[in-house]
Amino acid sequence: MNILAINGSPRKKWNTAMLLGSALEGAAAAGATTRLVHLYDYDYKGCISCFECKRIGGKNYGRCAVKDGLKPLLEEAAAADALIIGTPVYFGAETGETRSFMERMLFPYLTYTPGYASIFPRKIPTALIYDMNVPEADIIGRQYDSLIERARGFMERTFGACEVLTATDTYQFDDYSKYLCTVWDADAKARRRKEIFPQDLAKAHALGQRLATAVV
Ligand SMILES: Cc1cc2nc3c(=O)[nH]c(=O)nc-3n(C[C@H](O)[C@H](O)[C@H](O)COP(=O)(O)O)c2cc1C
Repeated sequence: MNILAINGSPRKKWNTAMLLGSALEGAAAAGATTRLVHLYDYDYKGCISCFECKRIGGKNYGRCAVKDGLKPLLEEAAAADALIIGTPVYFGAETGETRSFMERMLFPYLTYTPGYASIFPRKIPTALIYDMNVPEADIIGRQYDSLIERARGFMERTFGACEVLTATDTYQFDDYSKYLCTVWDADAKARRRKEIFPQDLAKAHALGQRLATAVV
């Protein structure tokens, strides 16, 4: 059982990567083989709207025809038994690289037929992890809930059940005194990092375990 985690943050060791790492530890504890990849290691762009994935009888029907650095990762994702995508919230959305990746991964499977049926040949469990600076109470106020639900819906339609984990009020710098940042209380951020983030990591661990258990 192979579980692939995809880090949509440019930072390879920070919040998103840590949450994904913890999810994979949970999955490994449940017997999965795991791999963490970082989208910023890949050279690619978003969907170029060539529609080759939808050309009737075309040699690339149902898969992305673009031959760039993302091709091997798209193939790896298609072969995985479960997928976890993690992204920080940037300007109220996924990072650009995460969105571009999702366009390339999802569009070939979703058909322009009534109900936009998926032609992905299996059902696999998936998860989305979003982490962000704002406190949990702001998720609804800033309408991040609709953003997240939209992405979750596309994942679910394409692959099957998709669960979401959010981590809020994250620790953003190694030393808050070095950066101009007067909107956040550095002590409160440090406290939260120590007391709450471990709970977020534990939730990610449990998520990974659930995902591995859900693989049939
Ligand atoms: C360019 C940029 C834009 C950001 N925009 C938002 C935002 O709109 N809302 C938010 O809550 N956090 C925002 N953040 C903060 C990150 O989402 C947050 O620090 C996240 O945990 C970083 O993940 P990482 O540690 O894995 O890189 C932004 C950070 C950057 C660098």
